[in-house]
Amino acid sequence: MEDKKSQRVYVKTYGCQMNFHDSGILREGLKKKGFSISSSAAEADIIIFNTCSVREHAEQKVFSDIGRVKGKTVVLAGCLATQVVKGGRKGKKTAPRLDFYFTPAELNSIPDILAGGAGTRNGLPQPGSKNPDDASFNRDISEKTGTIKISEGCGNFCSYCIVPYVRGTEKPVLFDEIINSAKKIVKEGINDILLLGQNVNSYHSPDDPGKDFSYLLKSLSEIKGIKKIGFISPHPRDFNDKVIGLIAGNDKISKSIHLPLQSGSDKILSSMKRGYTSKDYIALAERLRKACPDITLSTDIIVGFPGETDEDFNMTLSLLEKIGFNSIFGFKYSVRPFTEASNFPDDVPLEKKKERLQVLFEKQNMIVNKNRI
Ligand code: SAH
Ligand code: SF4
Ligand code: F3S
Repeated sequence: MEDKKSQRVYVKTYGCQMNFHDSGILREGLKKKGFSISSSAAEADIIIFNTCSVREHAEQKVFSDIGRVKGKTVVLAGCLATQVVKGGRKGKKTAPRLDFYFTPAELNSIPDILAGGAGTRNGLPQPGSKNPDDASFNRDISEKTGTIKISEGCGNFCSYCIVPYVRGTEKPVLFDEIINSAKKIVKEGINDILLLGQNVNSYHSPDDPGKDFSYLLKSLSEIKGIKKIGFISPHPRDFNDKVIGLIAGNDKISKSIHLPLQSGSDKILSSMKRGYTSKDYIALAERLRKACPDITLSTDIIVGFPGETDEDFNMTLSLLEKIGFNSIFGFKYSVRPFTEASNFPDDVPLEKKKERLQVLFEKQNMIVNKNRI
């Protein structure tokens, strides 16, 4: 039999920082099992697609990429794999051939299973056990920042979002494990860390709820050799004064805050189940700016959510003006399987969504240019 371990693997990653982090750890695991890591799909024997399913567009991109692969072992991993396994693509075209599926929770078993160690049944993995030596941090693309996952999944169930269904509900990592990862990062000569989670500021260590996000930030900042600590993403509802105080008063904590707003209309925010009003959001932005005038704020906006009228959209535009974000990410709403909003009529026509997205970006450009003068 061919020696599987000499096979070359290419890992293609889609989606959020969390996925890029997971892919980095996966590559390390594959190397430990003797696989060689390819830098291009063309020269690889196995291609692992570590995927995202947060918006429909992300999903289509993956399947069109997989459709072009010929004569290689194809592995579908990550959030889209959960969606497929749970039947969230029924009636839709998938790829012509997929050899393995691995959900995010099964990612650690990929090296073992591909090496033939753990065996498979009908192409579906039998999840392997987590290797205690598994790396718990990764380097970002710049190689200058170490990323640490502080929690997996999300329990917020915003009505439009698939993440809780494909990644599971929130599972925080033990405080001591995070601290150990940070210390390992410093030993590797990296001084900047980026904490990852879908809702970082709801963090509580599973063994001691008193060890919350502010305690974690403060403890990390006391580690010798750590110079900068960033985090994505905090949730507006879970910000407290202790964290704001640290951002303002602790030089090591990043002053670039990504604070997803989603909409400026209270009707839409409530239907999205975001847990705050536009007034709450403005008050939080003011508290942050007052405590720390040199803070930079960025955000995520969804346009065309079910029931969004021109009036609702205009409220988002005026909120952009009021807050003056340094940058924004804007998305057209797309229906996601399993979600509460998938039962709402997707009643904003695609053309209208496109138009609103364009108006949104134009507005943001005007705001940024005005602030520059
Ligand atoms: N956990 C992060 C967001 C992760 S998803 C947070 O809540 O801050 C990244 C962004 O994708 C979201 O902030 C949202 O703006 C967008 N998004 C999520 N689901 C979407 C959907 N169904 N349609 C369009 N955009 C969506
Ligand atoms: Fe999705 Fe909401 Fe969780 Fe973000 S906070 S991952 S948008 S459910
Ligand atoms: Fe996408 Fe999964 Fe991240 S759905 S945004 S890769 S958590």
